[in-house]
Amino acid sequence: MSSKFVIHGGKPLTGSIKVSGSKNAALPCIAATILGNTPSTLQNVPKIDDVFKMLEILEYLGAKVDWQKDNLIIDPRPIISKILPHSLVESLRASILFLGPLLSRFGEVKMAFPGGCVIGKRSVRAHINALRDMGAEAIETQGLLHLKLKKNIPTKIIMWEISVTATENILMACANQNDKNLISLAASEPHVQNLCQMLSKMGAKIKGAGTSSINIQGCKALKGVTHKVTGDYLEMGLFAIAAATVPGSKLEITGVETDHLDSFWNKFREAGVKFKLEKCKATVEYTKKLTSFSKLDTRIYPGFPTDLQAPFSILMTQSHGVSRIFETLFESRLNYLYELEKMGAKIEIYNPHQALVIGPTQLHGTNVESCDLRAGATLVLAGLIARGQTHVFNINYIDRGHEKLEEKLNKLGADIERREI
Ligand code: EPU
Repeated sequence: MSSKFVIHGGKPLTGSIKVSGSKNAALPCIAATILGNTPSTLQNVPKIDDVFKMLEILEYLGAKVDWQKDNLIIDPRPIISKILPHSLVESLRASILFLGPLLSRFGEVKMAFPGGCVIGKRSVRAHINALRDMGAEAIETQGLLHLKLKKNIPTKIIMWEISVTATENILMACANQNDKNLISLAASEPHVQNLCQMLSKMGAKIKGAGTSSINIQGCKALKGVTHKVTGDYLEMGLFAIAAATVPGSKLEITGVETDHLDSFWNKFREAGVKFKLEKCKATVEYTKKLTSFSKLDTRIYPGFPTDLQAPFSILMTQSHGVSRIFETLFESRLNYLYELEKMGAKIEIYNPHQALVIGPTQLHGTNVESCDLRAGATLVLAGLIARGQTHVFNINYIDRGHEKLEEKLNKLGADIERREI
């Protein structure tokens, strides 16, 4: 059974909203619990499909998983070493995050290649190369990732590219070894920092989290901990765009430090959005006269996040003039623009990485399809400002990363109905 959202657009959003815990922080923290010799409690974990899939894999391995309200308790002690089959990892790219901790705990790991959202070619090379550098051997096995840890070589691990999940994998692999490693060209996103905080509490010594050079001295006896998953800055961005573009809206958005989004607020300033920032609260108001952007180019953190590129295009459809999108990371992350075009947006797509949005346009409701998680949330934003009814299909993508998105928006004044089809 699948579902769709039916959105009656044009309803102002007002009030206060606390964002959920971050998906991209929760997933590595869940994988990291494998390394503890006692249970861990994770707080602020979003109840989303990607989290449930991660937990399904943990349970398959033998872990005991228990939700107590919003706390997630994971006992990793019964886990045994088993091949992770295609059926478990095919729909979740983040299942790659089991590679580092399982390798480190059992000395060997075998898993099928992970699947996930279709947003571009996503090689596992950065993961394999880094684990090889720290002393693992990659064994050629048909259709499987198979790694064996020979010995941990205290070394400088130069990441093959600045990759979020590959950095997280190597951090988790090193955390459970006695040697000291330097990870160069590390990713610095808030979710990588959040994982570093958890690994430090477990017993690893980490310096440089949040920079591109991380020193990690591991420890063979990591313990389970209580750890709070950081709030979702991407969700803060999403609500901020909704408040700026839906006529009559004004929102207070809390639940995460606003400085996780500095490059995003820069673009808000450029567009002329009315907003105010405090440490953990953004207040954003509907802004009638928005100006276009010379360029919105996505970059690794602290640059503009690729995961907010699609939502930001909604602001562009309401801005006066021509705005340019340059998606530098992924090559299939502009496909949602064809759906926005169906709603009346004026768009020119030059190639898989570059497009123009010409505004302002009054969007109108129609049938549209999500092609990935962030694209799906973008179509919900479009539906909120559109005239008439918007039917968003394939909302399973949205459920992967947003906890009850429609309920949160409805509490603020939106009119979104989830309908089974
Ligand atoms: N890339 C570059 N240049 C770089 C670094 C990366 O072009 O300097 C390219 C890579 O080649 C790759 C892509 O960018 O194709 C993604 O890079 P990365 O390896 O960092 O991505 P990831 O670890 O697979 C995580 C998030 C994604 C998010 C990206 C980028 C998790 C579980 N996933 O993926 O989240 O888009 O980082 O920030 O943390 C999402 O939440 O919807 C999502 C897809």
